[in-house]
Amino acid sequence: MGSGKTTVGQVLAPRLGAELVDLDARIAARAQKTVREVFAEHGEAHFRVLEREELDRVLAEPGAKVVALGGGTVVDDRSRRKVLESGVVVTLAAPVEVLAARVAGEEGRPLLMGKSAVEVLRGLLADRAHAYAECHARIDSAREVGAIADEIAALAAAPPIVVPLGTRTYRVEIARGISARLGERVKPFSGAITVTDSNVAALPLASAMTGARVVLEPGEEHKTIAAVERIWDGALDAGIDRDGIVIGLGGGVVGDLAGFAAATILRGVAFGLVPTTLLAMVDASIGGKTGFDRRHGKNLVGAFHQPSFVLVDPDALATLPDRDYRAGFAEVIKTAWLDSEEAVVELERRADALAARDADALAAIIRRSIRYKARVVANDERESGERRLLNLGHTVGHAIEVATAYREYLHGEAVSLGLVAAWRVSRSLGRASAAEVERMTKLLARFGLPIDLDRALDEAVLAAIASDKKKTRERIRFIVPSAPGRASIDELAIAEIRRAVAP
Ligand SMILES: NC(=O)c1ccc[n+]([C@@H]2O[C@H](COP(=O)([O-])OP(=O)(O)OC[C@H]3O[C@@H](n4cnc5c(N)ncnc54)[C@H](O)[C@@H]3O)[C@@H](O)[C@H]2O)c1
Repeated sequence: MGSGKTTVGQVLAPRLGAELVDLDARIAARAQKTVREVFAEHGEAHFRVLEREELDRVLAEPGAKVVALGGGTVVDDRSRRKVLESGVVVTLAAPVEVLAARVAGEEGRPLLMGKSAVEVLRGLLADRAHAYAECHARIDSAREVGAIADEIAALAAAPPIVVPLGTRTYRVEIARGISARLGERVKPFSGAITVTDSNVAALPLASAMTGARVVLEPGEEHKTIAAVERIWDGALDAGIDRDGIVIGLGGGVVGDLAGFAAATILRGVAFGLVPTTLLAMVDASIGGKTGFDRRHGKNLVGAFHQPSFVLVDPDALATLPDRDYRAGFAEVIKTAWLDSEEAVVELERRADALAARDADALAAIIRRSIRYKARVVANDERESGERRLLNLGHTVGHAIEVATAYREYLHGEAVSLGLVAAWRVSRSLGRASAAEVERMTKLLARFGLPIDLDRALDEAVLAAIASDKKKTRERIRFIVPSAPGRASIDELAIAEIRRAVAP
């Protein structure tokens, strides 16, 4: 309250050609009482029910709208996620003293009645910090209203994707040329160190690098504790402090290593990501899984540590070798299949344009994939439920990578073969239809991904399935796909999986 939602809305709405809706005013009109009367007569809980219902009505109405929400609207988890999914959410911020001065002497603020405004506001801001953090942008409201409206209008034209995780919320900005803004994004931090690999360091986009640098050897075989040590030492040599940031500029290997180093340096500093491969853009950069490989398997040591920002610049893909580019589509296809029929159809429709690296098609597919992953991560950050679905194709995929010492297949290629394996298991359980298997395999092949599972399978791969980290005794958790938008998490006997995938 007092942040200026209505005042800013009045300037912003005509600029966007949108209708201004004041949610409190709508609730009062429907209840035929003032908000203060609703609180006094029926209590806050009843007001929140009316608020939720009115918000649902507003969001269901046609036409563009600028909605000035009530200060407490977003405290309701369902309403908060709904506004984040259906529009652009801006938190207008101001110091408590400024807010208190603005609301001084105003009638009709039921939460303030008879109490010190500063005390109440301080308490509300602390209680609601997690909810107010889940937004597309947090804007300082102590500025000229026109300038605030300009900033929001620009944001609405190209909104980032929000990964809503309370006070650890972050935004994924997707735009051509956005990597050049890295310097701006690290300004709030006390110092930065950029981690990259020698391939990326030689590219024009490496000019975005900021602060001290650590240049690693490229490739999965270098995703080791030795690489982490180089980042630790590089950051400590550069004098990083608790307010510093580690930037990962590169593919999934660089991002996973930089993130793990950031999680552990000084018991945890911030990190930011500028993914430069398709796989890292749509998958590895979202969700905060970090780590490195051991001889026992991939990613066996790691930590959950969410980035502070992600900058996705589709132009970065221009220099990506064809094989790496195609490999990224394994995760794109996996994501689309988990998402919905509509997502698979879009991928099928755009396959030729994507193969030709068409910028618009790429931006659309990257955006859709990230949105899906952000939603899953928001619901299950620590992978105790729904997020496990994202391991579709990875049980056998990882086994293939381990058995071939990460040398024969790129991660995405191994996942492609893992997807073929998952569909074999699905068929053997009577889930997927033959037509679905054919549709899936055809899609992988259109992107030039390997589908000849029999060629890749040998005793070493079958043995490696049993060492997968998701194993519990002789049964392992296996993601079984069927139609688009439908997959399940099954506990299957290792022998059963071996039987189903074997030629
Ligand atoms: N953290 C997660 O949630 C998550 C999810 C999926 C995958 N991963 C991890 O990601 C890794 C695979 O990532 P990847 O496929 O990006 O591999 P990668 O990081 O090895 O990059 C592939 C190759 O492309 C080069 N490269 C990167 N960007 C380039 C560019 N723009 N132009 C030219 N060359 C470029 C790299 O130097 C490397 O040689 C695996 O280790 C996997 O475990 C992590």
